[in-house]
Amino acid sequence: MTGSAAVVVASNRGPVSYALDDDGRLTARRGGGGLISGLSAVGEAVWVCAALTEGDRRAAREAGGRLGLIEDSSTAVRMLTIDTTTFLRAYNGVANSTLWFVHHLLFDTPSVPLFDERWEREWAAYVDYNAAFADALAEEAAPGGRVLVQDYHLTLAPAMLRFRRPDLRIGHFSHTPWAPPEYFRVLPDDVATAVLEGVLGADTAGFLTERWAEAFLDCCADVLGAQVDREDRTVTHRGRTTRIGVHPLGVDGAELRDRAAQPDVQSRVATLREQVDGRLAIVRVDRTELSKNIVRGLEAYRLLLRRYPTWLGRVVHVAFAYPSRHDLPVYREYTAAVQRVAHEIDDEFGTPGWQPLLLHVQDDLPRSLAAYCLADVLLVNPLRDGMNLVAKEGPVLSERGCALVLSREAGAAEELGRDALLVNPFDLVETADALHRALSMTQEQRREVSDRLAAAATALPPQQWLAAQLDDLA
Ligand code: F6P
Repeated sequence: MTGSAAVVVASNRGPVSYALDDDGRLTARRGGGGLISGLSAVGEAVWVCAALTEGDRRAAREAGGRLGLIEDSSTAVRMLTIDTTTFLRAYNGVANSTLWFVHHLLFDTPSVPLFDERWEREWAAYVDYNAAFADALAEEAAPGGRVLVQDYHLTLAPAMLRFRRPDLRIGHFSHTPWAPPEYFRVLPDDVATAVLEGVLGADTAGFLTERWAEAFLDCCADVLGAQVDREDRTVTHRGRTTRIGVHPLGVDGAELRDRAAQPDVQSRVATLREQVDGRLAIVRVDRTELSKNIVRGLEAYRLLLRRYPTWLGRVVHVAFAYPSRHDLPVYREYTAAVQRVAHEIDDEFGTPGWQPLLLHVQDDLPRSLAAYCLADVLLVNPLRDGMNLVAKEGPVLSERGCALVLSREAGAAEELGRDALLVNPFDLVETADALHRALSMTQEQRREVSDRLAAAATALPPQQWLAAQLDDLA
């Protein structure tokens, strides 16, 4: 059976999520992100995603799987109610605890990973989860339709879908970095092969930067012995050729500014302005993921205050570290470490008239936008990151203009590196010195770099980014 959608998107997390209130009523909340903005420019499409919450499951069951259109777009949503055990093993065990760790080089290798019998069950669940997506995509796509499969959760789905529907044009896009072969080979051999061959089931494999695309090509050559043409950017394996694309996602400046002008953001700007009280603001906004390197960022701020006492009382660090993947103990422990270091900084430097650090760990999008508005310096220091949109959003919204202290390991460094203060994210001294340089710039200097950063950040907005991927598949 084939469907009727000319364009189908697949990702683990969908564009909308449902919560159950105390009376058992469902409320829908639209998510954010480049894919959602990008789809507004595409005609009719179907988005296949997993039901993640209890509310999602109920909404999907009541709607028979297919939910209404996403607001302001022609996209319908199909939520898959995958058996909970299968979902958790695939999402927590394989996607977040293994593939995420591989691509971000996060393993503490003397002790993890352990590929044991429990892992075998998790991997089997990941295969089933990918198959559930492949089945749904095969049902939704019109003959000859285009299907865009997203990210490390769904590396096997492209090959599975090709097997079910050879008529389709299939793209896969990785939003994370890709690991170099010597690290990718941590995976069991059959798994490493399945992941690469899964992605190569697509006609195009897209990446956010040249660097991640190159790493993927290296893995194909090294692990699969595939034929890699670096000039043409193609991989030929088992008689099929996959084209590699590089599509650096940017932000939609107009949409972001409109959002920031809304009253909920502006009231938070007023509150934060009072708290910062005329001092310079160093801002960071992250989900609390191990790869975001928040603890070292706070340590670098502590070092700044120790090495350059001139800033005592003259600067405030506004640090938002929002919860992420709290099913995993290692993520919860990381949040606790962030809070511990923050308390230590307050203890060491705080005075009755000056709170050196404002840390928030509860998600609040309008407050994040408000912080960007007040930023003089933006600190983005991930150990490794596919792109990092904070580095792009901050300069667009900063009212006075902000300098950017940016990890050289963030994908965004490829486009923003010229105008940012690049740092090695492991090097606290270098990061503290870069913060000092950023604070020492004149306001005009920060304004100038900020304008250049904003221009680079908005060069490829989500609509164009997605259209380019669809064109590649045409
Ligand atoms: O930031 C990279 C990314 O892969 C996004 O593309 C994706 O939305 C997110 O991580 C997944 O996070 P979560 O586990 O919260 O859905």
